[in-house]
Amino acid sequence: MRTRILASLLVAFAVLALSCAAQARDASPRQRLLMDAGWRFHLGDLPYSTSGTPITDWVWKADDRAEASAAEMAAPDLDTSTGGWQAAKTGDDVFRGRVGFVWYRTTLPAVKGVSHSIHFECVDDNGTVYLNGKRLMYHEVWNDPFDCPLDAAWRNDGPNLLAVLVENTNGPGGITGATTLQTEASDASEGAPNPAFDDKAWSGVDLPHDYVVGGNFSPTEDRSHGYLPKGIGWYRKEFTLSPEDRGKTLWLEFDGIYRNSTVWLNGRQLGRHASGYTSFYYDIGKFANYGGRNVIAVRVDCTQNEGWWYEGGGIYRHVWLTKAAPIHVAHWGAFVTAEVEDGDRGGRDGAEITIKTRVANDGAQAADCRLVSRIIDPSGNAVASLSTDQSIAAGDSPELVHKIHLSRPRLWSLETPNLYRLQTSILQGRRTLDETETPFGIRTIRFDANKGFLLNGKPVKIKGTCNHVDFAGVGIAMPDRIQVYRVEKLLQMGSNAWRCSHNPPAEEMLDACDRLGMLVMDENRHLGSSPDILGQVESMVTRDRNHPSIIIWSMCNEEGLQGTEKGKQMFSAMMDVAHKYDTTRPISCAMNGGWGSGITSVEDLQGFNYNPQQYDPFHKAFPNMPVFGSETASHVSSRGEYADDRAAGYVSEYSGNPEWSWKPVAERDFVAGSFVWTGFDYRGEPSPYDWPCINSHFGIMDTCGFPKDAWWYYKAWWGDKPLVHILPHWNWAGREGQEIDVWAYSNADKVEILLNGKSLGVKDMPRWSHASWKVKYEPGRLEARAITNGKVVATDTVETTGAPAAVRLSPDRSQIAADGRDVSLIAVAITDDKGRVVPTASNLVRFSLSGPGKIIGVGNGDPSCHESDKARKRSAFNGYCMVIVQSTAKAGDIRLTASADGLKAGTAVIETGAR
Ligand code: GAL
Repeated sequence: MRTRILASLLVAFAVLALSCAAQARDASPRQRLLMDAGWRFHLGDLPYSTSGTPITDWVWKADDRAEASAAEMAAPDLDTSTGGWQAAKTGDDVFRGRVGFVWYRTTLPAVKGVSHSIHFECVDDNGTVYLNGKRLMYHEVWNDPFDCPLDAAWRNDGPNLLAVLVENTNGPGGITGATTLQTEASDASEGAPNPAFDDKAWSGVDLPHDYVVGGNFSPTEDRSHGYLPKGIGWYRKEFTLSPEDRGKTLWLEFDGIYRNSTVWLNGRQLGRHASGYTSFYYDIGKFANYGGRNVIAVRVDCTQNEGWWYEGGGIYRHVWLTKAAPIHVAHWGAFVTAEVEDGDRGGRDGAEITIKTRVANDGAQAADCRLVSRIIDPSGNAVASLSTDQSIAAGDSPELVHKIHLSRPRLWSLETPNLYRLQTSILQGRRTLDETETPFGIRTIRFDANKGFLLNGKPVKIKGTCNHVDFAGVGIAMPDRIQVYRVEKLLQMGSNAWRCSHNPPAEEMLDACDRLGMLVMDENRHLGSSPDILGQVESMVTRDRNHPSIIIWSMCNEEGLQGTEKGKQMFSAMMDVAHKYDTTRPISCAMNGGWGSGITSVEDLQGFNYNPQQYDPFHKAFPNMPVFGSETASHVSSRGEYADDRAAGYVSEYSGNPEWSWKPVAERDFVAGSFVWTGFDYRGEPSPYDWPCINSHFGIMDTCGFPKDAWWYYKAWWGDKPLVHILPHWNWAGREGQEIDVWAYSNADKVEILLNGKSLGVKDMPRWSHASWKVKYEPGRLEARAITNGKVVATDTVETTGAPAAVRLSPDRSQIAADGRDVSLIAVAITDDKGRVVPTASNLVRFSLSGPGKIIGVGNGDPSCHESDKARKRSAFNGYCMVIVQSTAKAGDIRLTASADGLKAGTAVIETGAR
């Protein structure tokens, strides 16, 4: 039903706004409660009773007419006793490598119940489901389980003929995973979902949690996922609701579960969610117990991969319980865009702000309400306010639009990441029913085929890195502070952009980019046009569209169909969904072939994964298409290693030529910039070596964020300060008199190096490259002097150190919040007696801690280290390791001691309190 606008808009601009801010407002009744603490966890699967009725027997027949034969092959009365139909069991690979289509048929059992659906764990690769001849849904992606509701064609008096058209595009194929007929259970499930289940024997955990990261490495486990065992895990958590919560809208929000989760409340199934990267929520009102105990149960199954890198397992992002009035701002329902009238001249003439707010009425009656949009500027002043009176029908959720003009807006830029806030209130009379806050930024973005990327009218070269979700000590379960830390480390290097390869990140990462000034390419993983994939695009765009840092929506990465007509059609369907929710950002993807056809003909920007030799010919052939490096060559190397060592799984720092990546981008103004693969090493995808190597070494930093040499290459060319960095270290006992390759990264004109005070010559520093020398080793001091216009503008030295003598601790922050979530990342260095880091040290360091804190993980960046990250000890790798300490809810001093045999122990004090 359409809603009716009852009253006209009331506008109050800047002057009025101040009085408006001063008005007393009722406290918002919306509560968003963090549900991260106090979960119970069990590793391994457990029996539970809502697994449905298994569907095991089918008949099948190959038929490459595909959907064109549906009228015949999905018809309920087709006789399959003749005509070449064969019997198959669920799980059989009926394709045996054949590419094409197969029809499956079965008669579903007469299961009574409310709301029938069929659950497929695996249809390999794509499936179209028909019931009684009616087409119900299409699904892509072989290892994404899915549910197909059957009610639209279900016959209560039976029979019910299910037909599935399966398409195989490569490898094995068929209905290869468990398939079950489901009904909505009216009784609480048995087993772990049941509120009466005894979970005392389970362990206590807080979120975020990754149950894979602490496992034992084994060469028989999946190499792509870091040789760690995957599997199923169960979580339970109790909470209470008050009697007053009855009648409210209650959402249980999961920011991210990796992956294939099923959630129950009080034994009743709320739903399943396959994607490990999209955020989702359930309305729990129906099964909530008001005035008493409620039990959430979550089954997580990470056995199937979504990617080819370490993806962990578990509830690895936040969980929230939101309580809102029945009339409320819908979930992800506020969207702010700004049209800057003269963005290219700094927005001096003002900006037109458009606020779209979806207001939902979950109540049983139509209701009158007032929507108020109030804008708070970056200094905290209310600068504008607008309101609309509206009647909203029961069950309706109209989108209401406010437009506000702001004069002289403070633009969001990389140097001044100004954030405004939209405060949205829904009032009834003098009562505030609901209130939300949405940070946003005002800026212009534009990609130009010749000038590259322009932010607020000024060209900004994109100096980006691609990053997966993974960090030392914690795996995918990153406390918010680590999200921020990673952004800070990249900013320190001079990077200004982050590609969320290959999935949407935690929102806290985007918040950090908004706040600190980092551009973002947000990314969806799969190319496709099935409802699940389009749903993932919708989820990403609606959740993330208010972040000013996001400048590109990427729909997919390196897809086989990228250069084809079919790929183009799928991409167009994805663009349509993205445009439905946001038209302010260009849409692109990461292509590694097929440039010029397929997706190219519909997307807004051309991304190139690697292949810089394609930049010029493409630009010539498509002079109006903006171009960027969606993924560029990696610094493949292990931190502090200077020789390839296949047996140990190490790659030399000399191998990771960063100039291959940046020079072709830097040389071309029309290339908007690029994203290096990757900013940080990550578990899994070990290359070029396998076991014992368990990590990738693609990062400019290791898994702890300790820089490799390439960090200074990028800092030199991406930053704006004179810099020189010399490599390797200067501890080569036993190689006296032998030649050592010495490299310098610098942005100066020339570099001179001196060994023990004696000049070894001045060399020109080739732009975007490095200078090198062969130096006969003698212990001592090797110095590099960067010279520009005849003046020394920067220096760097490496010195031969003594033997390890002490452990030194350097916390990234010595004061953290006493909230049980904040962390301090403590760099542990092994030094000689003069305090110099010993670059080859590998001493085992043991940690002990007192005070209100705990160690949540350790790491060392060694891509072949098989020590556990969930321990109180770690060996150093080339001089360094890391320990991550988390606060508790109690304020006080955390004292950390790090000791190693024969060395002077190191100590650090981390103060926790209100922050
Ligand atoms: C790319 C791919 C990345 C990663 C990288 C390793 O082709 O997009 O996900 O696998 O190769 O070199």
